[in-house]
Amino acid sequence: MHNTQPIGIFDSGVGGLTVWKELVNSSPNESIIYYADNNNCPYGPKSKEEIIELSSRVVDFLLTKKCKVIIVACNTATAAAIEYLRSNYPIQFIGIEPAVKPAALNSKTKSIAILATEGTFNGKLYLGTSQKYAKDIELNVKVGDRLVDIVENGLVDDVETENHLSQLVKPLIEKNIDHLVLGCTHYPFLTEKLKKVLPDNVEIVDPAPAVVKQTSRVLEQLSLINTENTSPTYEFYSSGGTKILKQLLKKITNKNTTVIKL
Ligand code: DGL
Repeated sequence: MHNTQPIGIFDSGVGGLTVWKELVNSSPNESIIYYADNNNCPYGPKSKEEIIELSSRVVDFLLTKKCKVIIVACNTATAAAIEYLRSNYPIQFIGIEPAVKPAALNSKTKSIAILATEGTFNGKLYLGTSQKYAKDIELNVKVGDRLVDIVENGLVDDVETENHLSQLVKPLIEKNIDHLVLGCTHYPFLTEKLKKVLPDNVEIVDPAPAVVKQTSRVLEQLSLINTENTSPTYEFYSSGGTKILKQLLKKITNKNTTVIKL
């Protein structure tokens, strides 16, 4: 393993770009390979076995690209498959889970909400963290019904989206929450819309910065931080449609990016 090898990152679709963006900003020397499993998106309603199977296929692909570590930039895939991946592949994985801990520790109203997919709520990881850090907190969970589809279909700016979000968060607002944890990497694309339908005192928590920090820690431990002065390369692959991935990349980077359809 050499420090100039790329970091692999995957999601069921375009959601992991919210982590990719953070990674590019914080680790500008690192080359990155992004894989969007658009053909199989959403993972949320799928069984654990299916998600393990799909994630393994993606990991097999990323290993052919000589990735030095892999970020599972999908809460749902982390919940269902990270244990399996860690025990079956000789490479380090960095997972993502809803940021219950910081939200619970900083809550003044002692009431917080988590928005995630059903797959994430069913996972052991989420249960363990919430039992550990949110014992004295009212934890309001909500499945982000249709939100992944809205992002994957480019409907974020639709009038209907704001109405839908408003309905979704209404029961959470009634619970006097002061933190809304985004437990799915697709959801930060909806942050601006969420701000419009949430009271000003509700903080929206995106776990991407924490995942990127953890990635740096792992690379440091493995002596794999790229300290060489080479220009990084960014590659994008999708198992399905590439349109939204390209559109969002254009928004994020202000450039046209090639996405390879597999
Ligand atoms: N971005 C995924 C997550 O963080 C996607 C969910 C899905 O595919 O349902 O959970």
